[in-house]
Amino acid sequence: MEQHLFGIRGFVIDAPEFGTLRGRPDGAVIIEKERIVAVGNYQELRRSPRAAGLTWIDHGNVAVFPGLIDCHTHLPQYPAVARGQNELLPWLRENIFPVEREFSSAKARVEAPLFFRDLARHGTTTAMVYSAIFEDSTDVAFEAAQESGLRIILGKMMMDLGSYGTLQPKKILSVSVLESERLCRKWHGAANGRLEYAFSPRFAVTCSEKLMRSAADLARQYGAYLQTHLAENREEIEKVHNLYMSARDYTDVYDKAGLLTNKMVLGHAIHLSPREIEAIAAAGSAIAHCPTSNMFLGSGLMKLDQLRRAGIPVGLGSDVAAGPELNMWQVMRSAVDAQKARSFHDPAVPQLRLAEAFYLATAGGARALGKQAAIGTLDPGKEADVTVVDLAALRPYGSDRMASLSKDNVLALCVYRGGPHATLETFVRGQSVYRAPRKAQGNS
Ligand code: GUN
Ligand code: FE
Repeated sequence: MEQHLFGIRGFVIDAPEFGTLRGRPDGAVIIEKERIVAVGNYQELRRSPRAAGLTWIDHGNVAVFPGLIDCHTHLPQYPAVARGQNELLPWLRENIFPVEREFSSAKARVEAPLFFRDLARHGTTTAMVYSAIFEDSTDVAFEAAQESGLRIILGKMMMDLGSYGTLQPKKILSVSVLESERLCRKWHGAANGRLEYAFSPRFAVTCSEKLMRSAADLARQYGAYLQTHLAENREEIEKVHNLYMSARDYTDVYDKAGLLTNKMVLGHAIHLSPREIEAIAAAGSAIAHCPTSNMFLGSGLMKLDQLRRAGIPVGLGSDVAAGPELNMWQVMRSAVDAQKARSFHDPAVPQLRLAEAFYLATAGGARALGKQAAIGTLDPGKEADVTVVDLAALRPYGSDRMASLSKDNVLALCVYRGGPHATLETFVRGQSVYRAPRKAQGNS
């Protein structure tokens, strides 16, 4: 039975700003229906009139975080994780297109529920997701997203150059546009706004100008999201220069097609010129930083400080299957390591602090998706997207000396050792979307 009013006790941690970490050691979050209604000290809240009759979830040594936000991932690619040792283009050709091509509705019926369950098991409550090029399996994926309770932005992959599939080349563009629009009409805003549509032109290498323009027009018409990949890999960039000779640079290809809007989330965006960074900032587009993927494919080290200085909203993405896990703790750690690696060669590069990486995976991601008013922190009034982490599961010897942990210690444990084995429960809009099997639960 779902509760309408309940409290979660634990070390409450969130990051309202880049670099600001808030922590309440014996804290509590009170949730009424879909929203957080109070956050504070457990002992005080327990005695408050509001607490009369509410149910407490008290697992002992836990941390309570805002749900993690994954701004870029690929559902049909999940079975192909940790496959291949190539860079982007051959990896796509050899390992990814063959898997996406097989993403039938029958397959989606099996895999999509597992994928969403795995997101929740990793503490992720919101994800922006690509499907494969097929309307039917994307529709099944949306049904699974609805069933999962998660907050999902999803779109059918669009491509009309060098695509997989069996359509005649002449028909690919019109069918891709028609099917995408149909899915958007059906799903954008469904489940009371929990599900949204993203028009998803894959990247300029596989998209004609006409297809990109159609995606931009439709997104504007429906108020839907846009997602694509930008400047991830040197060979990719070279290809785009050759395909679009009249464009100033890669970013300009998207700009000319009308794709650079404040509903656009650009994946990767590693190799950008100052001009491109300015253009993205001026358009209000966001960037999904995918450090585990960038390492796996040898794509490069993100110039995160430059993007942030320009005022571009940045979130983090697992980019499965180029990223090996849906684990956003691992993605945070990799984001920190990437800036460290840059700083080894250039001492002027600022390090990314753990609290800053955590911001990117929560409130920063919310801002990148334009959802900062609804999610990303544990403030009263926000929708109750929360993940509860068992800290003893992350300590070498269990719960010894736990009392002395600071908020920074707790965050470091999670960033360096966090994962599904420590997730106790995950909530979206106050509804439980994942609960660990009994044996893994704390000492409640
Ligand atoms: N660029 C175009 N498609 C893809 C994809 O599926 N994954 C990654 N990492 N980059 C891409
Ligand atoms: Fe990607």
